[in-house]
Amino acid sequence: MASLGVNIDHIANVRQARKAVEPNPVTMALLAELGGADGITVHLREDRRHIQDRDVFLLRETIRTRLNLEMAPTREMIEMAIKIKPDMVTLVPERREEITTEGGLDIEGNRNNLKISIERIQGAGIPVSLFIDPISEQIEASKSVGAKWVELHTGSYAEATLVNQSLEFAKIQEASFLAKSLGLRLNAGHGLTYQNVEHIATIKGMEELNIGHTIISRSIAVGLKEAVREMKYLIQNPRNEPFYEPQED
Ligand code: PXP
Repeated sequence: MASLGVNIDHIANVRQARKAVEPNPVTMALLAELGGADGITVHLREDRRHIQDRDVFLLRETIRTRLNLEMAPTREMIEMAIKIKPDMVTLVPERREEITTEGGLDIEGNRNNLKISIERIQGAGIPVSLFIDPISEQIEASKSVGAKWVELHTGSYAEATLVNQSLEFAKIQEASFLAKSLGLRLNAGHGLTYQNVEHIATIKGMEELNIGHTIISRSIAVGLKEAVREMKYLIQNPRNEPFYEPQED
């Protein structure tokens, strides 16, 4: 059965929108673990738009499940990963202007850099997964550059209309089969929701699904009523007297 890696980047997005201290992704990671997360995933982006270096170091010290660090294969990030020592590094393509990771890695076009990056990270004892589109060339190329894992991009499946969804699913299933037959270990993610996850979870050999947006969205939906209730209660039942009572003349 596939396990669940919870991507908590969006928690940091909310914090960074105010440059405040809450919500704290580290605290929320511990709650995700209480809920059954098998791992915590964060994407430390070059522009540090959400997760910060400090978050990743604190996560490394506090979570009790696995830490999956998504990052671009740059020299700076590789040095960072070796310091942090996550349980897995998932290499992803990164473009500054994108809202989220758009496509998978182009392995052929970056063969030399990827090979060196993978050697360096795996040489430090950290397994590397490559985030790729579910295409046979990318899977074969992933194997040839020395990756031990691939994470199949499920975005096209997730975005497909009902008519095309079975076709997109078949691509992921075939890609999974090929990856397994080459001895690669298998993860998947991107765009998975409460509506579309089940088919992907049934794929044979699928080890972990990395899911973020829909879980954080759902947590707002299931938590907002209670949060408002707590605030309303405090307003109606203040625990303190006012700091200063103006004197009446
Ligand atoms: N896997 C990878 C490699 C990603 O970049 C992301 C998005 O950060 C996810 C999984 C999770 O995608 P989503 O937030 O759509 O669930």
